[in-house]
Amino acid sequence: MSTVFLFLTLSLLAITISSAHNITDILKDFPEYSQFNSYLTQTKLADEINSRQTITVLVLPNGAMSDLTAKHPLSVIKSALSLLVLLDYYDPQKLHQISKGTTLSTTLYQTTGNAPGNLGFVNITDLQGGKVGFGSAASGSKLDSTYTKSVKQIPYNVSVLEISSPIIAPGILTAPAPSADVNITALLEKAGCKTFASLLVSSGVIKTFESAISKGLTVFAPSDEAFKAAGVPDLTKLTNAEVVSLLQYHAANGYNPVGTLKTTKGSISTLATNGAGKFDLTVTTAGDSVTLHTGVDSSRLADTVLDSTPLAIFTVDNVLLPTELFGKAPSPAPAGEPVAAPSPAPTVASPGPAPVTVEAPSPSAASPPAPLTETPGGAPADAPGSVENSTTDNAAFHVNAPALFAVLVTVVCSFLLS
Ligand SMILES: *[C@@H]1O[C@H](CO)[C@@H](O)[C@H](O)[C@H]1NC(C)=O
Ligand SMILES: *[C@@H]1O[C@H](CO)[C@@H](O)[C@H](O)[C@H]1NC(C)=O
Ligand SMILES: *[C@@H]1O[C@H](CO)[C@@H](O)[C@H](O)[C@H]1NC(C)=O
Ligand SMILES: *[C@@H]1O[C@H](CO)[C@@H](O)[C@H](O)[C@H]1NC(C)=O
Ligand SMILES: *[C@@H]1O[C@H](CO)[C@@H](O)[C@H](O)[C@H]1NC(C)=O
Repeated sequence: MSTVFLFLTLSLLAITISSAHNITDILKDFPEYSQFNSYLTQTKLADEINSRQTITVLVLPNGAMSDLTAKHPLSVIKSALSLLVLLDYYDPQKLHQISKGTTLSTTLYQTTGNAPGNLGFVNITDLQGGKVGFGSAASGSKLDSTYTKSVKQIPYNVSVLEISSPIIAPGILTAPAPSADVNITALLEKAGCKTFASLLVSSGVIKTFESAISKGLTVFAPSDEAFKAAGVPDLTKLTNAEVVSLLQYHAANGYNPVGTLKTTKGSISTLATNGAGKFDLTVTTAGDSVTLHTGVDSSRLADTVLDSTPLAIFTVDNVLLPTELFGKAPSPAPAGEPVAAPSPAPTVASPGPAPVTVEAPSPSAASPPAPLTETPGGAPADAPGSVENSTTDNAAFHVNAPALFAVLVTVVCSFLLS
């Protein structure tokens, strides 16, 4: 018994240390998988794989890869490859010892939010005679991909197995590529970022975003609640140029899905970065939680709105305040205003009639409000309770729990069996 505990403790220790594997490096010794490897890099799936602790990669030889890549856009290739990354550790022994001979495994595709039902799961079935078949877990799917050989194992962390052909989930190959005319505004509005969306439109920054998509774009969209939080500077006191910089600060060039952000070392520049200012962000990761730091404040990455090469859109809990505009300590409301009833942090569900967006300019201010600050007509009042939903984690941030549990079970089982 105490030995089991020792194993548990050791494996827990191992889990808390960050991952050390590099799938690109593992596969570079195998020219027969060079295409697969190259697409892991192009789709940034390599980062996602490296940021996880317990994983099985089902690789396709170059011939099988060509069939897939010849006919499909990168977004479809990414989905198809995500289905080949199992969030569990399967070495050849385990493949042949599946209890009752069949099981379902979660894949990276399941974490994208694009996989309704069981489309993100893979059916692994021991077909007897040493053959192991793989297929989509969607009902009616064939097990028409088979295990061909083992490529590499780093026990309980990474297993690389070769299979004969892609695993095809219904609809995966026919999904349309995200076109340049994806409507960012509509996506943001639907995701509870109406204020940010209307600022992008009124400032014209939306055009900058749209023209950046083709080369890759990552957007960090503050929720409507974020703009109402205490301590958010009064945007009406900014010049138009400053508002533009602030909005551009909420996007980075390049396609950076969660896995890429997690493996980012150092700072990332933003669309606001120019000769006059760094306007950069630093990224930290704790477990599955990713946080962006500006030097003035920080914000958790909340939900994934869209993750489709070449565009990634996330919601963030706070407005990101660049040091170039707000220095070290952003001063809230100007002194001298009557501090009537100090209602602390009017953040959440006060369904007051106040406009949703930016803090209203004080009525005594003589100058008319800049057009930027106007609430777009017809923006409905905030939905009470949306706070609860905005803090709900995306599935992508949860998947490691079962995987970690699987490590423990695997470690203990293999000990008991040995
Ligand atoms: C497995 O992963 C753990 C935690 O990431 C790491 O400490 C350990 O060195 C890895 N094992 C091998 C054999 O690389
Ligand atoms: C992974 O390995 C590749 C190939 O050896 C290398 O180019 C890359 O920098 C490595 N990635 C990391 C994060 O170390
Ligand atoms: C996997 O697919 C086979 C064949 O379609 C089916 O008989 C089996 O029940 C499936 N396994 C699971 C765990 O659903
Ligand atoms: C994008 O969506 C917004 C809001 O839903 C709408 O007002 C706008 O007309 C749409 N733009 C295009 C080009 O369809
Ligand atoms: C919150 O999410 C639940 C379940 O997804 C949904 O039924 C509810 O309408 C949402 N509430 C708001 C305010 O969006």
